[in-house]
Amino acid sequence: MTASPHPFLDAAVQADLYRDGARLAARTSALHQAKTCGRAVADVIADLVIRFLPEPRTAVVADLGCGRGTSSRVLVERVRPRRLIAVDASAAMLTVARSRLGSRSPAAFVQADFHHLPLPDASCAAAVAAFCLYHAPAPRLVLWEIARLLEPGGVTVLVTKSTDSYRALDLLVAAAGLDAHAAERVSLYASAHSGNLAALTAPILPLIHVEHEEHRFSFTGLDHVAAYLATSPKYDIPAGLRGHSSALAAALRARLPDAPVHTTSTVTYLVAARPGGTR
Ligand SMILES: C[S@@+](CC[C@H](N)C(=O)[O-])C[C@H]1O[C@@H](n2cnc3c(N)ncnc32)[C@H](O)[C@@H]1O
Repeated sequence: MTASPHPFLDAAVQADLYRDGARLAARTSALHQAKTCGRAVADVIADLVIRFLPEPRTAVVADLGCGRGTSSRVLVERVRPRRLIAVDASAAMLTVARSRLGSRSPAAFVQADFHHLPLPDASCAAAVAAFCLYHAPAPRLVLWEIARLLEPGGVTVLVTKSTDSYRALDLLVAAAGLDAHAAERVSLYASAHSGNLAALTAPILPLIHVEHEEHRFSFTGLDHVAAYLATSPKYDIPAGLRGHSSALAAALRARLPDAPVHTTSTVTYLVAARPGGTR
């Protein structure tokens, strides 16, 4: 099967990636098990909201592209906002997020495209968009939507990854001969990444904080790598291996020595604020 040239911007690939909670959970779990360095992202997001929002407890907070609700849950527990609005394009992700947040949370769940948010102007004190702007064909439009829904003095916390994330895995897939062009494929994060996020945001909302953190990953061996690669739409690998971690692991083992694999990804946190209010 031929890989899409921009898988994370391809509507059909996205629909497949987020058609149920299982694939995203498998991807996240393989990465979490490999992580050796880097703070928990949802905790950093909550810390930034608490640090930069004058009155977090009375706030309405939107979590855009909420996925399985990992950051939404930590925001509810740590920020304790008056209301949390979890937004995602995928009904399946919202179902998972709803069940993980529980019925007593102050959360509302909205299915929408973050390029056109069905939320009133100036209705949120904070808007989080974590690991989702790289799915936006028009990230500036999403940033204008965020600026529109923030109240004066409101803040946005944006989180993305570097374009060179998991580079060692591209090289491994190429070395195994599973996709000869793996090392030249366009980054999954090309739309909004560590290197362009500030330049995209600054003309729309004044920046107040940017930080980059290198996350390091050590996969225990080819089985572990295959568990992650099976969830990736990036490569043009044979159809029988795509999405099948044990077949992929066997194919990798037949071609490469089984050994730990080390890789990195830079995670970027950006905070910007709508001027006005008490800020
Ligand atoms: C990798 S998940 C991120 C989940 C969560 N924010 C986190 O940090 O764990 C990306 C999410 O963005 C959502 N998404 C992608 N394009 C979207 C769009 N145009 N509008 C709203 N959500 C979108 C996907 O459905 C998916 O749930």
